[in-house]
Amino acid sequence: MRAFVTGAAGFIGSNLVDRLLAEGESVVGWDNFSTGQERFLAKARRQPNFTMIRGDNLDLPALKAAMAGCDFVFHLAASADVRFGLDHPRRDLEQNTIATHNVLEAMRANRIERIAFSSTGSIYGESTVFPTPEDAPMPVQTSLYGASKVACEGLISAYCEGYGGEAYLFRFVSILGERYTHGHVYDFYRQLRVQPDRLRVLGDGTQRKSYLHVHDCIDAILRVVRARTAPAAPHRTAIYNLGTDSWCAVSDSARWIAAALGLNPRLDYAGGIRGWAGDSPFIYLATDRIRATGWKPQLTIEQAVLRSVHWLRDNEWVFDCRT
Ligand SMILES: NC(=O)c1ccc[n+]([C@@H]2O[C@H](COP(=O)([O-])OP(=O)(O)OC[C@H]3O[C@@H](n4cnc5c(N)ncnc54)[C@H](O)[C@@H]3O)[C@@H](O)[C@H]2O)c1
Repeated sequence: MRAFVTGAAGFIGSNLVDRLLAEGESVVGWDNFSTGQERFLAKARRQPNFTMIRGDNLDLPALKAAMAGCDFVFHLAASADVRFGLDHPRRDLEQNTIATHNVLEAMRANRIERIAFSSTGSIYGESTVFPTPEDAPMPVQTSLYGASKVACEGLISAYCEGYGGEAYLFRFVSILGERYTHGHVYDFYRQLRVQPDRLRVLGDGTQRKSYLHVHDCIDAILRVVRARTAPAAPHRTAIYNLGTDSWCAVSDSARWIAAALGLNPRLDYAGGIRGWAGDSPFIYLATDRIRATGWKPQLTIEQAVLRSVHWLRDNEWVFDCRT
């Protein structure tokens, strides 16, 4: 495989790059470093079968040129924060939907037929079916991020149907682990660095999510992609939820994080059952489909939270790079 990885300098992308290289694949990384970090690529840059290209998904000619010679695209670059979508109402459309269209056009120009895409459990909006299966009733969208990702999924499957190809769509729950630079653990840790005795929690703390560790996420992606399950899937588009078969409440996670840091802060709840408009109070995805491949997560949610905390503790420089 000569893999093209968009978002290669990001949290999940850089972990994927390291894993692909460790397993002997050739990788071309692509990133505009808007949220990605050069330091995440330090190990990859020492590998002879790694090429990194700085570029933007909105620059279609450059994207087409960069993809030349590759035969698989892992498309992870995105505006990945559901929470701030309403502050920039065009961003998710541009960075996710239009960018994905460009990725598909660049693939078409280079006759690349296989793509894996990082979608999200946010596309289920506020599901009423738990655990939520991949074929849950067509959800009503509650965030611009989810809406943009649904559109990406639609474009990818339509390209696959129309031009031929294989698509792997992965709907992740929230991902945790090494190089984690956004989300609630990051937010709590950052607050506690400044004010160790108080922690502001968005919502009422009862929001429940079934977080997954990044290594388990990548294990699942590579297992499916290598098994080439898409040709047997409807319209050659294989869709998998990725998550754990349990969940934790945000307030539980806040306590684990504080204890790991040796702190006992007062928790100040902002109130309401959602952390922000578009936050889903309960995300719990059915993972029977990915589990049928033999995959199962190796780490519990608590272990994933704690590994994120430990990584942040050892890499506090990230707080100077990201707000
Ligand atoms: N982290 C999660 O919990 C989570 C959950 C569900 C889905 N996802 C999806 O997984 C993917 C990776 O997320 P992440 O957490 O690693 O986020 P991240 O912000 O760490 O990584 C995204 C990367 O894409 C790059 N990028 C953004 N816009 C770009 C552009 N226009 N051109 C080129 N590069 C660009 C950024 O610089 C960054 O390196 C995203 O598609 C995200 O939507 C993440």
